[in-house]
Amino acid sequence: MTPQENLPKTNYESFEVAPLTPHIGAEVKGIDLSAQLTNSQIRDLRQAWLDHMVLVFRDQQLTREQHKAFGRIFGKLHVHPVNHSRGGDEEVLVVKTTKDSPYTAGDGWHTDVSCEEIPPMGSMLYITEMPASGGGDTMYADMYRAYDMLSDTMKEFLSGLTAIHDGALPYIGAYGIGAPEGQSYPKNEHPVIATHPETGRKLLYVNSGFTTRIKGLAPAESRAILDMLFKHIAETPSLTCRVRWEENTLTFWDNRCTQHHAVWDYYPHSRYGERVSVLGDQRPAA
Ligand code: SIN
Repeated sequence: MTPQENLPKTNYESFEVAPLTPHIGAEVKGIDLSAQLTNSQIRDLRQAWLDHMVLVFRDQQLTREQHKAFGRIFGKLHVHPVNHSRGGDEEVLVVKTTKDSPYTAGDGWHTDVSCEEIPPMGSMLYITEMPASGGGDTMYADMYRAYDMLSDTMKEFLSGLTAIHDGALPYIGAYGIGAPEGQSYPKNEHPVIATHPETGRKLLYVNSGFTTRIKGLAPAESRAILDMLFKHIAETPSLTCRVRWEENTLTFWDNRCTQHHAVWDYYPHSRYGERVSVLGDQRPAA
């Protein structure tokens, strides 16, 4: 595929789309997510999501049930492994940061819950309280492009390798939330180079949030290769777009081909949102 052929489409029948960058992210205008969506709106939304990977919807007035209903259009809802410690609605991940928070969720490049055997295929974060100081953006990175930018030699070296994704790394290591009594967090093996099940495009599938080692390499080799790949993601601005939230913005990202990083630049102010994630139907495959 030539770079030109990779450029996302921008024309859909049911709404307007304004790209945030030429390859990742777009604002969708002219759709009310609280309403009953038509089949053609749903078809166009799915296509726009595959094309742009990150869709931003402004000025949405959604109850929690309407947020969940929008998620269910695309699949079953995921139950987050840390929700056992929180109570409340198990299909909703509360994303809340205040001056008393020891951390903010997602403050590092990651793919949501890639430790699962079948990680969520997409997540929808609905922000309803913004920091008075401004800030609190989320950065997204395009893993197709991260793969495309590697040398042919590195692509060949990585293809066929698998890596371990371990929930204990963020949930215990970074957040200090123990697993449910008598259980451990999910830990699974996924290909380092995966193929998107719908677009058929290859992408880089390791992330600093969950990936602990590449199988078949010596520990020092695995660490060096992972660090090189994490640096590639973190230090290549052309992979990214940045979502500037406003209150009542919902962002829906394709978790199979993107990573994201919540920016905590608003201490001591507060930010509140709720996330619903949609289950995938197959394991990441090479
Ligand atoms: C997350 O889903 O990782 C949180 C993202 C954010 O709060 O911006």
